[in-house]
Amino acid sequence: MPTPSTSEPQQLLDLATRAAHAAGAELLRRYGRIEGLETKSSATDPVSDADRASERMLVEMILAERPDDGIIGEEGADHRSASGYTWVIDPLDGTVNYLYQLDNFSVSIAVEAATEGETPDGTGDPVVAVVCDPVTGRTFTATRGGGAFLDGRRLQVNEPVPMDRAMVATGFGYDPARRAAQGAFVARLLPRVRDIRRMGSAALDLCAVAAGTVDAYFEEGIQHWDRAAGALIVREAGGLMTEFTPTGQPSGWLAAGPSLHAVLTEFPGGGK
Ligand code: IPD
Repeated sequence: MPTPSTSEPQQLLDLATRAAHAAGAELLRRYGRIEGLETKSSATDPVSDADRASERMLVEMILAERPDDGIIGEEGADHRSASGYTWVIDPLDGTVNYLYQLDNFSVSIAVEAATEGETPDGTGDPVVAVVCDPVTGRTFTATRGGGAFLDGRRLQVNEPVPMDRAMVATGFGYDPARRAAQGAFVARLLPRVRDIRRMGSAALDLCAVAAGTVDAYFEEGIQHWDRAAGALIVREAGGLMTEFTPTGQPSGWLAAGPSLHAVLTEFPGGGK
């Protein structure tokens, strides 16, 4: 288990931020000209040269400066860690938005330290997180114990939020049967909250909870790279993120301020 020196989180954050910005610039350079389009887990789960180029750029930049670190990436990057640090990268979160030129997509990077067990949000032990929104130029960052920030402004989740005033973001998986069950749960929740949003990038949804531009986010079936950076950003903004599997699907997560988190966890079918 690595014991970071005082300056190490800052060095990791600096590299993660530079890499996210470079990958974001590459995504913008290719925006609107989709090439090499293929599908992955289902006919509606796309990948293109943009995802691949972004991931390649991230991997090259990370390994050039930190050759002993591990990397896990959505598009297949898989390097074993010799240092105890592993970079968990989503080179393009919100791929469907990107395909349609809907501007809400991101580059998501977390650096996790090897740990004995898992944290409550199912990540390793994230020490640094960066989520960059290339279209707006916003950069969300967090370091473990050091707070969460949007372009240098400290973030704080909304607290307390009564359920009937809650703006709740969610998302749907790519598998049609799973989507049907997820839709049925949302139909039950919708009359009980202020409103529902489906914005299309899990990483940015988690940052929205941290920034208080939504009150909660939940989704089942999200991947490690979708949530690793956002989980630390939520936690460092005072939020909670725990397992939430209202339709019994794996890898479901709920992020919110503590009081709303408690209420939603009790909602029928909600928490464990
Ligand atoms: C997807 C987005 C979307 C979420 C899906 C994810 P991708 O990630 O985060 O908002 O609803 O579950 O798979 O495929 O664009 O990296």
